Amino acid sequence: MEGKLKDGFVADLKSRCSFTQIASKYLELTKKGRTYWARCPFHYEKTPSFSIDEFEGFYHCFGCGESGDIITFIKKMEGLSFMEAVEFLAKSVGMEVQYDSEADMATIAKQNQQKKQVLKALYDAKEFYKAQIYEKTAIKAQQYLKDRKINKSSLENFEIGYSPNFQLILNKLKALGYDNDTLLQAGIISESKGKLFDAVAERLVFPIYNTYGEVIGFSGRILDNELDVAKYKNTRQTIVFDKSKAIFGLKQVMDAKRAQHFNTLILAEGQIDIIMLHQFGFQNAVATQGTALTEQHARILKKVCDNVLVCYDGDTAGHKATFRALDILQGVGLQVKIINLPAGQDPDEFLKTNGSEAFQKLIENAEEVMDYKLRTLAEQSKMTSNESRSQFLKKAIDLLKTLPTLAEADVYVNSIAKYANVANNVVRESLNSAMSTLKKVKEPKRELSQIAQNFSDAYQKADKIILASIIHKKPYILDNVNLSFVNTNYQRLYALLLSKKDKGQEFRISDLYDIFNLEEDKDIAELVNYKFSASEELDKQEYLNSLDVNRMRGLEIEIKDLETLYKNAVDLSKKTELLTKIGNLSKELTNLKTSFVK
Ligand code: CTP
Ligand code: MN
Repeated sequence: MEGKLKDGFVADLKSRCSFTQIASKYLELTKKGRTYWARCPFHYEKTPSFSIDEFEGFYHCFGCGESGDIITFIKKMEGLSFMEAVEFLAKSVGMEVQYDSEADMATIAKQNQQKKQVLKALYDAKEFYKAQIYEKTAIKAQQYLKDRKINKSSLENFEIGYSPNFQLILNKLKALGYDNDTLLQAGIISESKGKLFDAVAERLVFPIYNTYGEVIGFSGRILDNELDVAKYKNTRQTIVFDKSKAIFGLKQVMDAKRAQHFNTLILAEGQIDIIMLHQFGFQNAVATQGTALTEQHARILKKVCDNVLVCYDGDTAGHKATFRALDILQGVGLQVKIINLPAGQDPDEFLKTNGSEAFQKLIENAEEVMDYKLRTLAEQSKMTSNESRSQFLKKAIDLLKTLPTLAEADVYVNSIAKYANVANNVVRESLNSAMSTLKKVKEPKRELSQIAQNFSDAYQKADKIILASIIHKKPYILDNVNLSFVNTNYQRLYALLLSKKDKGQEFRISDLYDIFNLEEDKDIAELVNYKFSASEELDKQEYLNSLDVNRMRGLEIEIKDLETLYKNAVDLSKKTELLTKIGNLSKELTNLKTSFVK
């Protein structure tokens, strides 16, 4: 999968992809002019501020500032690396990925072969464990399933297995023709002091699948809680298993979804919880596998459904995890609510004691995110003193500030006042002032009026305005102006623009992603995200002013260079010539400067 791509392949690939056609698989697009709009998949919003410019080949969200080309888009939506995204796109438009050299091709073919072999070994291992659970050696495991009330159909649905000892799987898989390397690579076996052994020996074994339904690893649970070892042992990171992407129950959810459509997932913590939820009829339950929720997990969930009910354990750790998860889930555009379990319970326990109907009630009473956050915040603050009360108020207002409008925040004024036992007005006033200062900070300052006082700031700003206007192809752009830049990224960009022009090619914003990494090159990202004013006349004026400012710096640099030449020159006529030049340029500079200081 590594290897270098052939020069020009990425550009070729991008030109063959219709951005909007691909994006329409993920987003509901509406066309206005030449721009397509959708609700942003990278942050939660009610009205579309995510735009795609098909011709320029790039997207930009005016809400959260995310931007990129089709490759960035696929990377984020599918949770892929750059190379994987290229391969994904190539496949979807029927192109063969072209690598740099024969040697690379061979390496890649070999890696793909290895991956295939690893997946095959994992599949066979799963079959082996599955069969073992019916053997005499598995009496304890069978009893354990009974004790935890895991029934036969769950056993089959989740393909639960058992590893009777440290050696058997090794012998079985080697008899099937696998070598040690493959088994180690698959994480099925481990090595210690030169000895090879089953990584989940003497444990109940739960297979873990990827989104394609392939087995990528296992989670093994001990049968005896007294043992002084980790309760669960998961497959280590391998070429196919990555816990920050792995989701337990996803395969079963996808299977269930084929039979009956749904658009909501239940996200719980443990895998027995998931098995029990499915067994009790909640076939939309998933959990992360052996790690806290990541953004990659959230993106995978977003591909399956639009709504998530978070159902973490009813304890302090669960609340902490919930707070964190809410932001991550909403961050990828999911609609979220919280299922509140009684203190100290997990879904497994709750279902066993109260049954499906009671859980269904919990679902119906699922709490809105802001309600949940404010309530848990209020429960954590004791509210016994004025100080704790005002602390709570401050935190509560901070939460409200994350809402997009004052109107939306105002909805919660009453409940906050109630929690803190103060009058509504007290809350409303602090909310108003908090929201208004927020607005002030956000207000963009964009006049060039302070140029005279602060030239170096003005230079940077002017460069930005000029380049942003060029790359966004503003109609007022002047051709054949002499520009110069000091920022190296700007220099590279300008060189690119000039070379495109030389070759008679049209520049597209998506070209930027080929030479810059917009996550690191913030100065370039700023240009892509540049917010022009509502008035083209104003923008034009700013652009023209900026040309002058850019010219001023150009002149200053040129004059300095000439001065050095003048100092080093010995020939008198040369000196005179330089002096005349310096004089002319200085005059031009003074004129420009005075025209700015009004
Ligand atoms: N987990 C893990 N490794 C551990 C402990 C837990 O990977 N050493 C994961 C498992 O997927 C587990 C989940 O975290 O299902 C939640 O852990 P916990 O709440 O401790 O366990 P329970 O779900 O209550 O597990 P069980 O019901 O099997 O005791
Ligand atoms: Mn449990």
